[in-house]
Amino acid sequence: MDLADADYRLPVPMKDIPSLGPQKILNGEVHNWYRIVLGYSDHLVGQILDRFDIKPGQKVIDPFCGTGTTLVECMKRGIDCVGVDANPSSCFSAHVKTNWSLKNKRLLELLEEIELKQNLYLRRKVAYKQDPTYKYLEDAGMIRRGWISPEPLRKALAIKSSIVNLATSKPYKNALMLALIAEVITGSSNVKFGPELYCGPAKLDSDVFSGFAKRVQAMAKDLLVVSSIASGKATVIEGDVRECDELFNSHALGPYAAVICSPPYPAEHDYTRNARLELAFLELVKDRRTLRSIKHNMIRSNTKNIYKEDTDSAYVDGHSKINEIAAELDLRIASKTHSFARLYPTVIREYFGGMKRHLLSLKNFLVDGAKCAYVVGDQSCYLQVHIPTAEILSSIAQEIGFKTLEIKQWRSRRSTATSKEIAENILFLQK
Ligand SMILES: C[S@@+](CC[C@H](N)C(=O)[O-])C[C@H]1O[C@@H](n2cnc3c(N)ncnc32)[C@H](O)[C@@H]1O
Repeated sequence: MDLADADYRLPVPMKDIPSLGPQKILNGEVHNWYRIVLGYSDHLVGQILDRFDIKPGQKVIDPFCGTGTTLVECMKRGIDCVGVDANPSSCFSAHVKTNWSLKNKRLLELLEEIELKQNLYLRRKVAYKQDPTYKYLEDAGMIRRGWISPEPLRKALAIKSSIVNLATSKPYKNALMLALIAEVITGSSNVKFGPELYCGPAKLDSDVFSGFAKRVQAMAKDLLVVSSIASGKATVIEGDVRECDELFNSHALGPYAAVICSPPYPAEHDYTRNARLELAFLELVKDRRTLRSIKHNMIRSNTKNIYKEDTDSAYVDGHSKINEIAAELDLRIASKTHSFARLYPTVIREYFGGMKRHLLSLKNFLVDGAKCAYVVGDQSCYLQVHIPTAEILSSIAQEIGFKTLEIKQWRSRRSTATSKEIAENILFLQK
């Protein structure tokens, strides 16, 4: 879930959702391989699956799948599922987390090989500077700005090269890379999340290999557990869910009995910024152009991904509540000089227009009566104007033929802009 505009350190009890039955596997297996600060809890997904009474044989979609929380939870229950995300690094982690065919013994053998290889790489003092990840981080100024200190970076790149040069198949290399990026982000780099990414005190050195090794060992242990269950099948697709027709026709997917997701909220959260180190390590971003093309595929939820050619706002032209919020923002920005503030009304219109396009294009792939859960938060980060996200999405969904079953508050957060409690809701819809 998107926690922008909130103090994410608040204890956040899950409210109102009745306890609906146990998960099959309770210890966070697989989920912990890699999580993002804006991801939601596997338990919430389990509760929604119970509420919808989804059984094996039915298909679930998470159109904003992030690191695959919904997919992993469906698989644990033997339910087939599809996840889509516009961010290739999220797709990478969702993909790895839903491949349970790897042999745990083989993974541990490879870990031993990496230990030997990385020692050789570490002796070659300058070789790592030729690595595309190093070059990108250097060119983008991220080393200078302290995202990661030179010594941990050198060690992480030695592990990366060792993985790349293993004589093994891609799925094993991918699993090992996921363990490496998880270790880089949470153990060896200087980045912190509050929930926006910032650079904390520099870690001048770090035992990258032992952190990495612990993660691979935990992964191997989880693989042993999940290999014993009759899991569902998961498919991960990279793309823009405002264009489901294009995305799904070619994959011949659906129809879906349920949608479970947490889309971006209209807030100043830049998903690509939070994933910049991952994107660099996976060599998915090598320059500004590739970064921009990823942003371009995303719902317009912040002022850093608004483009001249955007037209999603046309989908919500006549929506009175959106117009009212945009008019209020127009009024409040009149006295502001900083240029980003001038884009606030545009973000609101583009965001809800994009979400309408998404709902319209997804609808054709849902069975009649399909149930949908959209986890979204209200916002007030734009000049303290209150944005009742679930309420507006509900009215948009009704315009295009969905029925609103309920807007359920599942927790509240304290806004950093207003110090007031604001709601985080689950919008339950039915086709
Ligand atoms: C709040 S996160 C979802 C987190 C996920 N539930 C998890 O547990 O990891 C929202 C996701 O929506 C994705 N996204 C934004 N715009 C998108 C679009 N147009 N199409 C597909 N995915 C998009 C972002 O990349 C981000 O991963």
